[in-house]
This record gives sequence, structure tokens and C-alpha cells, in this order.
Amino acid sequence: MKILVTGGAGYIGSHTIIEIMKHTGWEVISIDNFSNSSAAAYDRIRSITGKSIRHYDIDLRDLSATSKVFAENPDIGGIIHFAAFKAVGESVEKPLMYYDNNINSLAHILKCQQQFNVPYLIFSSSCSVYGNLRELPVTENSVLPKAESPYAYTKQIGEVMIADFVNVNPDCKCIALRYFNPVGAHESGMNGELALTRPNNLVPYITQTAIGKLEQLTVFGGNYPTRDGTCVRDYIHVSDIASAHVMALQKLIDEPDFPNYDIINLGTGNGVTVLEAIQAFERESGVSLNYKIGERRPGDVAAIYANNTKAREVLGWVPQYDLDAMMRSAWKWETYLKE
Ligand code: UFG
Repeated sequence: MKILVTGGAGYIGSHTIIEIMKHTGWEVISIDNFSNSSAAAYDRIRSITGKSIRHYDIDLRDLSATSKVFAENPDIGGIIHFAAFKAVGESVEKPLMYYDNNINSLAHILKCQQQFNVPYLIFSSSCSVYGNLRELPVTENSVLPKAESPYAYTKQIGEVMIADFVNVNPDCKCIALRYFNPVGAHESGMNGELALTRPNNLVPYITQTAIGKLEQLTVFGGNYPTRDGTCVRDYIHVSDIASAHVMALQKLIDEPDFPNYDIINLGTGNGVTVLEAIQAFERESGVSLNYKIGERRPGDVAAIYANNTKAREVLGWVPQYDLDAMMRSAWKWETYLKE
């Protein structure tokens, strides 16, 4: 079977391609326009797996170019759709850019799925759809509150678009995976998150500070109502996220009676504070991190973590990596980049 991975040069996309190539017989092709990635990711995939993949430098907002890829590959049996913008703060600054890219790209993928009779789709969603829900841990059947950012809203809209689409296209099935905070790197240390600009997310910020690319980490807020005053998040190893995609796709293939649309949380279920994350990093790297407690970051929720019962029960997915392993691999990748 041939699988199309959109955003295949990105952080989670590239790890998922590696997982597919290592553990399945599926052939992978990728579409990526390198808006937040580079073609070097395909070289890293080749170094780790020993194999090259066919890839297209295409913007998914270009429907005719996207359709051409499907026409050229009539044997595509499944799509894993990662390609999207994902920076929360940027989405607040540039909402139309987020709506244009994330919504139109998905609409075109669904059009092609329909036109070319592709039965299966796995969609990248996000825990940001839960906004400021107060009941923790969050479960998939929570009624979603108003999104806190345009980015989060594009994920809420995406989920609704897919539900409406499969409703009238019963031959198409989809699982939306709501990621919590993906971190870490491939255990070889040869693939990881490549922030092309100054990183927004905590773990790249930690590793880049530790290696000296950045001067100091600011912990955003020290007076939240949490056990040490810093925000609580559910960090999940990127390779665990990657393996869940393979399991979700396999589930759709294996079980003809599986619902046409389902939503599954991907998190460890453990809430970790920013200070605990820093301590884990220091323990694993042996580096003492230069950080200070600063102002709160607008838009941050105090605490969010997953109820992951559904992923365990439905997919048989069990996260393999703990927080220390996440930090160890992130540090291995940062030091690999320096070499
Ligand atoms: N943080 C700091 N200092 C930093 C960066 C982050 O203290 O320099 C804190 C944040 O305040 C937050 C935690 O570290 O408490 C994690 O922050 P991230 O920016 O790494 O991630 P978020 O929890 O903000 O997650 C959001 C969305 C996800 C999305 C993710 C990646 O909720 O859906 O950003 O874009 F996937």
C-alpha cells in the first residue's frame, strides 16, 4: 500500500515516515513545501532508514498541483495529513494566514480523497482544541469551548470539516489524533525538531539555551495555581506520537466496522510543570540551565493533560518513553546538530 504523508519534512511527519519505513511494508510518498522545514529532513530519513522516498515540493493550497500527485499515484491507500502552520502566538498575529493555509489545505486533501477514492485519512489535531477546559484530565467527548487562538480554531474547524465529509462519503474513514505536547527526537539523535527561527516551544528553547545558541530561558509565569507555580503540560515523545499514526491507520485497514470518524487523545496522561521539565533536562544532560522566572505568556492555560484511556483501549497504544528519555533524546539531537 502507498501512503501519502503531507508535511513529511516536518518534525512529526519525518518521525512518522521513519516509523512507517521501519515497521510496515507501506511505501511512503511525501508532500511538503518547506514553509517550516527543509529538504534535509529527507536526507535524515534516508540516513536512519537506509531508504529514499519520493517527495513533492508542493503547496497544498494549489489544488491542481495537489490533484496531480494523486493522479500520478493512483495506488495511494491512505493519507496522513500533518501539513499545517502550528505556532499559537503567530496565529494570533496573522489569523488569515492560518485560516488560509490550514483550512484550504485540508479542504483540498478531502477533495482529492473523494475524487481519487482514498479510503483512509489520519488527521493531526491538537489538545489546543480543549482551550481552557477546567476538568482534567481532558477526554475526547468533552464539549469543546471557544478556541483560544486562530491556530486552535483551525483544528476545531478541521475536525468538523472531516466529520461532515465522512458523513456523506461513507467509503472514507478518518481518525483525528489530538496531540498534547510532542517533544524529543529519534533515539539515534539524528532527527528532531528543527526550529528555523527562534523557537517558541519549551524543549527546543531549553536545549538551545543549554548549548549556548540562546542566552537564557524565561519560564513564563511562576504564580499559577499549580504545585510549583509553573504551567502543567503533558509532554509526549515524538516517536510515540509517530507510532500512534501507524496504529491508527492499521486499525482503519483491519477493522471494516470501525466508525467512519473517531477522535483520539495522544498524551502520556502525566502532567509535568515547566520546572519539572527543566529538572529532568538538567538530570539527563548534566548541564545546569540558565533560566529565570518571568511574566506569564498571554494565552497560556495553567494546566492541561490527557486522559489517554481511549488510545490505549482502541489502538492498543502505550507510550514507550518517559520524560527523562524525551529530554535525553532532545539533547542528543541538539548536540548532533552542533557536530
Ligand atoms: N514555556 C516557557 N518558556 C518558553 C517556552 C514555553 O516557560 O520559552 C512554557 C509555556 O508557558 C508552557 C510550556 O512551557 O507552559 C509549554 O509551552 P509550549 O510553547 O512548548 O507548548 P504549548 O503548551 O503552548 O502548546 C501549544 C499548543 C499545542 C501546539 C504547541 C506547538 O497548545 O497544540 O503549542 O505549537 F501543538
